[in-house]
Amino acid sequence: MAMVETPLVANPVAGTGQETVISCERLHKTYTTAFGELFRLPGVTALSDLNMEVFRGEVFAMIGPNGSGKTTTLKLLMGLIFPTRGACRLFGRNPKRDVSVKRRIGFMPDGPYFYGHLNGFELLEFYANLLGMDAARRKRRIPELLDMVGMTNRAKNRLRTYSKGMVQRIGLAHALLNDPEIVFLDEPTSGLDPIGARDIRDVVVRMKAEGKTVFLCSHFLTEIENLCDRVILLDRGRTLRYGALEELLVEPGKMRLTVSGASDALKDQLGKVGRLRRSSENRPSTDLILKDGPDIGAAVKLIQDAGAHLDSILPMRRTLEDVFMEAVQRTQADRPWDAIDADDAEDSPAAPAETPVATADGSEES
Ligand SMILES: Nc1ncnc2c1ncn2[C@@H]1O[C@H](COP(=O)(O)OP(=O)(O)O)[C@@H](O)[C@H]1O
Ligand SMILES: [Mg+2]
Repeated sequence: MAMVETPLVANPVAGTGQETVISCERLHKTYTTAFGELFRLPGVTALSDLNMEVFRGEVFAMIGPNGSGKTTTLKLLMGLIFPTRGACRLFGRNPKRDVSVKRRIGFMPDGPYFYGHLNGFELLEFYANLLGMDAARRKRRIPELLDMVGMTNRAKNRLRTYSKGMVQRIGLAHALLNDPEIVFLDEPTSGLDPIGARDIRDVVVRMKAEGKTVFLCSHFLTEIENLCDRVILLDRGRTLRYGALEELLVEPGKMRLTVSGASDALKDQLGKVGRLRRSSENRPSTDLILKDGPDIGAAVKLIQDAGAHLDSILPMRRTLEDVFMEAVQRTQADRPWDAIDADDAEDSPAAPAETPVATADGSEES
């Protein structure tokens, strides 16, 4: 239970020039109820030995199915709950002990709840007062934020008349009030229409441009794929994947050759070297998927000899959704719901031991 007080990581990270602003070391949370404690019932392991670092200025995404421990991680980082063991740090400090870090962060919870009798403007004013913001700054900051989240026109309406998406938008403005160095967004686009989701995206891009760090929890993978620098994928509290988005999306050891002007005879020959992909009607080119290695040279020679044109050779890429589905399905097959005990299970690998069979045809596009 005792928390380690020494900083978990050197700051900035030795040799990389990157500054760690969030770190978790073997962070573990088991929820027990008072009733459960009394009768020694096993608790719910919501988060299991989480190790991660987030660097200043990056957009970091935590993804995972419902119940995978994302909100629990945020609550631990916000200092709202205690870890069962392990530690987390914000700016090298324990968020539960050192409340000063709260001045430097903003938090938008999943489904924020606000006083319905206030209007949007009053609500932000109320929180700005709590933050000790002076009148001049409030006068500047609140209209600016209302504009940023697209709520200027509804600012004088009471919150109880807002749609879920509007409450989300006000929640985002609230999280940004103190101009935080790190903003934590828990499912920021749930309840938002596509315009609202794009607005959130714009805010994230803007924060990154200002050098701020954004920690995003979401299961809207396509959105994340276009936004984030690094990702952690959790499933039932365990880390399945962690790393730079670009690295996660590359299929290890697989290349895609794109050929145009291939005759049927050439396609037949290529089909023996690698796996040909059906080309769509509006694309005259043909894709050939190959293992990285000598086959590539053989395929290139065939293409040249046939007088066809080699358009590109690129590493194969998957979508984040492919990565997610593959990782999560695999563990569900390995560990059925009722057999989960985080302490008994083996450590899950950070990367697949073996390259899976190529993604289904047409499931990725570079
Ligand atoms: N206060 C709590 N008491 C007991 N179990 C909880 C509590 N909060 C969350 N859990 C459980 O912990 C697990 C992780 O939940 P959560 O962190 O909310 O996941 P996510 O945000 O990824 O959907 C779930 O199984 C959930 O039911
Ligand atoms: Mg959640």
